[in-house]
Amino acid sequence: MNQIKIILYALLSTFLFQSCRPEHTVQPDDGIAQKVEALLSRMTLEEKVGQMNQYSSFYDVTGPAPSDGKLKLKYEHLKKGLVGSMLNVNGVKEVREFQKLAVENSRLGIPLIFGFDVIHGHKTLAPIPLAEAASWDLEAIRRSAEVAATEAAAMGINWTFAPMIDITRDARWGRVMEGSGEDPYLGTQIGVARVNGFQGNDLSSVHTLAACAKHLAGYGFSEAGKEYNTVDMSTSTLFNVVLPPFKAAVEEANVKTVMNAFNIMNGVPSTGNAFLQRDILKGRWGFDGFVISDWGSIKEIESHGMAANLKETAMIAANAGSDMDMESYAYVTHLADLVEEGLVSEDKIDEAVRRILTVKYELGLFDDPYKYCNEEREKELLYHPDHLEAVLDMARKSIVLLKNEGDLLPLKRDQKGIAVIGTLASDKNSPLGNWRLGSDNNTAVSVLEGLDTYCTYTYAKGADLSTGIEVFNQDLTINTSDKSGFKEAVTLAKNAEIVIMVLGEHGMMSGEARSRTQIDIPGVQQDLLEAVYEVNKNIVLVLMNGRPLAIPWAAEHIPAIVEAWQLGTQSGHAVADILFGRYNPSGKLPMSFPRSVGQCPIYYNYFRTGRPGPRNEVFFSRYIDEDRTPLYPFGYGLSYSKFDYSNLVIDDSDQKRIKVAVQVSNVSDTDGEEVVQLYINDKAASIVRPVKELKGFEKIALKAKTSQTVTFELTDKELGFYDPNGDYKVESGMFDVMVGTSSADGLTGSFQLK
Ligand code: BGC
Repeated sequence: MNQIKIILYALLSTFLFQSCRPEHTVQPDDGIAQKVEALLSRMTLEEKVGQMNQYSSFYDVTGPAPSDGKLKLKYEHLKKGLVGSMLNVNGVKEVREFQKLAVENSRLGIPLIFGFDVIHGHKTLAPIPLAEAASWDLEAIRRSAEVAATEAAAMGINWTFAPMIDITRDARWGRVMEGSGEDPYLGTQIGVARVNGFQGNDLSSVHTLAACAKHLAGYGFSEAGKEYNTVDMSTSTLFNVVLPPFKAAVEEANVKTVMNAFNIMNGVPSTGNAFLQRDILKGRWGFDGFVISDWGSIKEIESHGMAANLKETAMIAANAGSDMDMESYAYVTHLADLVEEGLVSEDKIDEAVRRILTVKYELGLFDDPYKYCNEEREKELLYHPDHLEAVLDMARKSIVLLKNEGDLLPLKRDQKGIAVIGTLASDKNSPLGNWRLGSDNNTAVSVLEGLDTYCTYTYAKGADLSTGIEVFNQDLTINTSDKSGFKEAVTLAKNAEIVIMVLGEHGMMSGEARSRTQIDIPGVQQDLLEAVYEVNKNIVLVLMNGRPLAIPWAAEHIPAIVEAWQLGTQSGHAVADILFGRYNPSGKLPMSFPRSVGQCPIYYNYFRTGRPGPRNEVFFSRYIDEDRTPLYPFGYGLSYSKFDYSNLVIDDSDQKRIKVAVQVSNVSDTDGEEVVQLYINDKAASIVRPVKELKGFEKIALKAKTSQTVTFELTDKELGFYDPNGDYKVESGMFDVMVGTSSADGLTGSFQLK
């Protein structure tokens, strides 16, 4: 862009911004608002821009100060008050040193806010978020986030970059492990539960963190599941599927920060997208926290091809409402000049800084910048027994029983002749999953260790899954050829009564930058499974994975399949408790499992087409070489109990509260839990609605041979939808209702909304 174009752009963005709905102004409690204004009035432009700058941790605080390059620059900036926040600082000692640099050297002594990716725990790890979503247990999920917050806060952290509330439909995308799956209703409830867990009732408590709803918006819709790829979606999908979790995080859970996304939205990088950040987030929803860019995403506006240089990226992002720059160096380098040149108004800078300072005040950092820095507390709270208990509870609840032919499970306590096969059975690292940057390696209870408390067994790994290094920032090497351990495994299996095979993905095969085109059981493990099956068909397959896998062969041949994801610190105990029936499985899939990768993205709440079929002819919506249904649908999961659904009653006499009641009976001899799910279909609407939409669920505990009536209420909140302008509508007409045990199995009825 040349100078004239830049000026035109600035004028245009000002005009566009003014023509949008009025932006909500920050209105925290009066005391804080006044303090923020007083401080703001004393700040130079440079200092204000400094608050909008975030750096990643860069040097060992116990060593000498950095003497050259970028590290020296960061160090100097900290001392001059040109840094508002740090990320990736690990531990009280380090946090205190960084805080000192800022508070004791800068003119105004404004404290830093310390952010960290506390995604599913900090030291004590809960299951990966996708696994937690399978529990459909909002209180357990809230508690899990609370545990994570308590430990991270004890290590000096004030702010987590979680929850990720991107709706994810494509199992190829590695980051599905970080979210709550494919459904906006479930994803919204879980997002709210997580924000509440992190933030608690009192942000200034030393046990809570500011949360961050991410990534605004649409990152989960990367084309073909390829990481960092283009996103191109309709406004209908944006408003009805992608945005609802964010709206609720803001309006219901008062989330303090939002992170924007790497991808484009309607051709404009999210980080430079005023429609998303100013009009919708800060305008329509009245968000009063601040927006953090994703790592380097301001700079990436140039890579996307919307800016010619770093300075333009800073102008675009600031005008679009990105309040803080994570590691792009764009704001700290150029924002003050852009203000001097009239390309970004100082009002916009003030607005951003006001938001950032407000959160810092709310966290109590101005009262005491070191309040989160207490070594005693740090020691006392990490791996606290209460935390270990909470994540064990969460891990058990996250497991999904996919198949149990002939009631092979649960195993009897006196079961003899157990052979355990698979390298993941002894692994203490992989079950911790990805996104655990603050954690300690090899701290998971392995499946073998879990089994030790129940039985004796023989063990053979069969084959390695990965070879070489297993870390966040490097690719894994998967063993695709070495089968030298098969013989030992097959011999063990031959002599066993029952074989427990623990197979799946390594924890570092999902997460950021871990997209896959093959989503089967990786490496030589499928061959191992088939080789063992040749000699012993009595197999319990325990799957560990960070995404839905395509396992058609196993689904057909293996009698019992347990989906055990990556369950964190207490992994092995949770798996053993399920296998031996100490805990009756209650999880339900939060994402559909495809039959083959070619079905991806596959999700239950798709739109009916003009040719839905199935018909006894050729021309309808289908594949010629694959079934149209998933292998295991959304909401699916078995139990050791058997549940029956009966007496669906719909009462629409009060049109503002349609009541749907169903009787659920546990017809087995085993106490159990069931997630009762309600789906609707708006039969004919002004825009096409999905074939089914989850609009209610309740997890109930039912003693053996007892029944319970579960009643749902459908109000405008459940029955409406957003039109392409983002306006909410409730339309009269016929609705189908289904209440049942999964998105594919339930009792049906209908009612008319007049
Ligand atoms: C991810 C974010 C994360 C950030 C900081 C980025 O690469 O997309 O989700 O919070 O890094 O670690």
